[in-house]
Amino acid sequence: MLLFEWLSEPLPSSPDDLSELLAAGTKEVHDKAENNVFVRDFLRGRIRKELFKLGAVALYFTYAAMEEEIEKNKDHPHLAPIYFPTELHRHEALARDLEYFYGPDWKSVVSCSPATQHYVERIHEVGQSDPVLLVAHAYTRYMGDLSGGQVLKKVAQRALKLPATGEGLEFYHFEGIHSPKAFKQLYRSRMNELDLDAAAKEKLVQEAVHAFHFNIEVFEELEEIGKTLKDEVMDAGMAVHGNMDGDINK
Ligand code: HEM
Repeated sequence: MLLFEWLSEPLPSSPDDLSELLAAGTKEVHDKAENNVFVRDFLRGRIRKELFKLGAVALYFTYAAMEEEIEKNKDHPHLAPIYFPTELHRHEALARDLEYFYGPDWKSVVSCSPATQHYVERIHEVGQSDPVLLVAHAYTRYMGDLSGGQVLKKVAQRALKLPATGEGLEFYHFEGIHSPKAFKQLYRSRMNELDLDAAAKEKLVQEAVHAFHFNIEVFEELEEIGKTLKDEVMDAGMAVHGNMDGDINK
């Protein structure tokens, strides 16, 4: 068997594995996130460019905070095994997307929204007081991003008529990851090898549920802003189906 095939094979799992506990413990809130109006509209290609840009701003502040705390804690024994800056880190890609959308002065044009600020504060709080909880934040965002970024990229590209060369959509492009499926298996196995007792795993599941809620708050905020924007809805959605192979996500 080739190394690549071996890496893609799911390892035998146990219900006590952190990856299994996280997947099971966030299932309900994942369903809630999927059913959010902003998220559903996005998947259907009903995205206003202004809102898409504000979504990218929210992601920029979120990833900048998360990656700042991950960087500070990269030698922590519970974070070192899941430290993959080259493969995963997104804040620089998001900075390039924002420069594309808002121009070279983007930093003085964009600001952190209240819902994003709420999320960012929690990330800094856990980074400073209980860094192991960053595992839950990293899981919620990166595993989600790897589960279907390509579909979202295509929807946005089509709906917003963005260049096929990828400008404005660098966030969705993981240059260092050729097989998201294999990478997710590696990430899961690294999480499962962390030396954590049952109580610590439970705390991580709770924190991941919080992280989902912070994301939902950001979507709800975008939905509210959307109501105040003039209508220029694009209809270029992709068919949404129940593919659990990771094609459609986030
Ligand atoms: C996994 C769909 C929104 C976080 C998945 C998977 C699918 C999916 C099909 C399974 C991938 C696989 O088994 O490899 C969707 C759809 C969404 C959505 C259709 C919205 C329309 C979100 C959001 C977040 C998120 C908003 C968090 C911010 C995750 C995470 C996983 C995941 C963390 C990994 C689960 C695990 O294997 O432990 N999603 N998703 N998703 N998604 Fe989503």
